[in-house]
Amino acid sequence: MDKKIIYSGIQPTGCITLGNYIGALGNWLKLQDDDNYQCLYSIADLHALTVRQNPAEFRARTLSFFAQYLACGVCPEKNIMYFQSHVPAHAELTWILNCYTYVGEASRMTQFKDKSSKHTDNINMGLMDYPVLMASDILLYNTAMVPVGVDQKQHLELSRDIANRFNNAYSPTFTVPEPYISKMGAKIMSLADPTSKMSKSDENINATISILNSRDEVMNKFKKAVTDSDNSIRIGEDKPGITNLLTIYAAVTNKTIDQALAECADMSYGVFKQHVGEAVDTLLTPIRIKYNELMCDKAHLASIAKDGAERANYLAQKMLRKVYKKVGLYQL
Ligand code: TRP
Repeated sequence: MDKKIIYSGIQPTGCITLGNYIGALGNWLKLQDDDNYQCLYSIADLHALTVRQNPAEFRARTLSFFAQYLACGVCPEKNIMYFQSHVPAHAELTWILNCYTYVGEASRMTQFKDKSSKHTDNINMGLMDYPVLMASDILLYNTAMVPVGVDQKQHLELSRDIANRFNNAYSPTFTVPEPYISKMGAKIMSLADPTSKMSKSDENINATISILNSRDEVMNKFKKAVTDSDNSIRIGEDKPGITNLLTIYAAVTNKTIDQALAECADMSYGVFKQHVGEAVDTLLTPIRIKYNELMCDKAHLASIAKDGAERANYLAQKMLRKVYKKVGLYQL
């Protein structure tokens, strides 16, 4: 049986958070040992250019993200891991798909509308084209499933529309991707405002845990985590802060929420927060050590990225040639 292709891209902006680890990366570690799937993970560097980046910082962050994936245990042999800009077919297919995307549908995307209202001085074409580039990422590899959170659902829907439109205009070419709703991986909320998601670009440093935070930073941030004034440790809609901390604790220790509750119910808030901080630090310390090792050998990182790009290029080229032929571009 052919393996199902799973595709995900991550923009190298902000920092990789504990929320990303629990919600996504942790899952990838399980998927890479499941023979039913072949996963591709790209660093969506071209996507990140839709907002202004400082070139030197951007270049460094991009490599750092790649190293962080590796440090978490995402394996370059079991998955295809690469930088989007190293596979030219992404940009090339975007051009073709642009011609099958209506201005009306692109300008109706919620994220485009949000971002244009936030960056009124730079509403560039790339911002509007963002979901078409994302469709190219997905469609180049016969992707069957895309793990998506709510914020990317509409973009995946557009990818499906574009794929269907193209397939109907010519003949079946693209696999129409489905959303992959994971059974694992909880949603982690901000430590400063537990009613909103932990975001990798939050400006409040106390709101997020970066997976590279030191032990002191981790312990401090949990100490400051927003809770409530009643002193009971339980799950509940009226207890977003405590619920979030219990969710984090259960996720990083591989326990169920019930086990976590049984263990922590009698603690004071202070002791509980410290307990959660310890558990998170136990998870992150080996990642941080591995990351520092990896970053000492840039040539080794580059060779892993090159190998990933070669494998992705091979597949992407095959699809791009097929598309060029179908639309009638003259072939040499
Ligand atoms: N737009 C996605 C995000 O910001 C990142 C992304 C780029 C992506 N290409 C993708 C996600 C392809 C899934 C599939 O989260």
